[in-house]
Amino acid sequence: MRAMKNIVILISGRGSNMEAILRCAAEQQWPARIAAVISNKADAGGLKTAEAAGIPAVTVEHRNYPDRDSFDRALAEAIDRFAPDLVVLAGFMRILTAGFVHHYHGRLLNIHPSLLPSFPGLATHQQAIDAGVRFHGATVHFVTPELDHGPIVDQAVVPVLDTDTESVLAKRVLEQEHVIYPRAVRDIIEGRVWLDGERVRRTPPATH
Ligand code: GRF
Repeated sequence: MRAMKNIVILISGRGSNMEAILRCAAEQQWPARIAAVISNKADAGGLKTAEAAGIPAVTVEHRNYPDRDSFDRALAEAIDRFAPDLVVLAGFMRILTAGFVHHYHGRLLNIHPSLLPSFPGLATHQQAIDAGVRFHGATVHFVTPELDHGPIVDQAVVPVLDTDTESVLAKRVLEQEHVIYPRAVRDIIEGRVWLDGERVRRTPPATH
């Protein structure tokens, strides 16, 4: 039997992507455990969800550290206690230092609510509406030091309707996030997808 892999999930808020990953990991019996959920805010709603699921829920308050370097060092220490094979950013709203990102090269995954490379940064749904694009979506990518860049693992596309408000569009995208993020994590955990230098590699799909 293959060894169980360890996944550490980082959140800052409600943690609905985290929840989708927890649910799929349990239902689909992934060869992995969610070893910990770590937040940079003690009041992140997702921490309670993690605790209720019996998962160690840890806070590393970014406000307690004088600068990004010291916070990232403390965060990496907290993460590494759980010996992660994969670190999953799920609505984790902190910019990470290059040192942190390099430490987790090939093991650090993010989801961004736009079709990257369009609309990095914040307020992506409003950016999409303002730009008048007809399609919008979400992107799962390996993290590189440049914010909201990095080799793309998967994307989901949704239409933008003339009647859309930011919140209606956000909801449509979030539903798709909950589909593609657990799937991407599973593909990596089960070895079908990996980072090779700057490229994402995939095993060829089965032909039968
Ligand atoms: C998601 O839209 C994610 O793409 C973005 O922040 C949001 C987090 O939502 N980075 P949740 O905490 O997973 O519910």
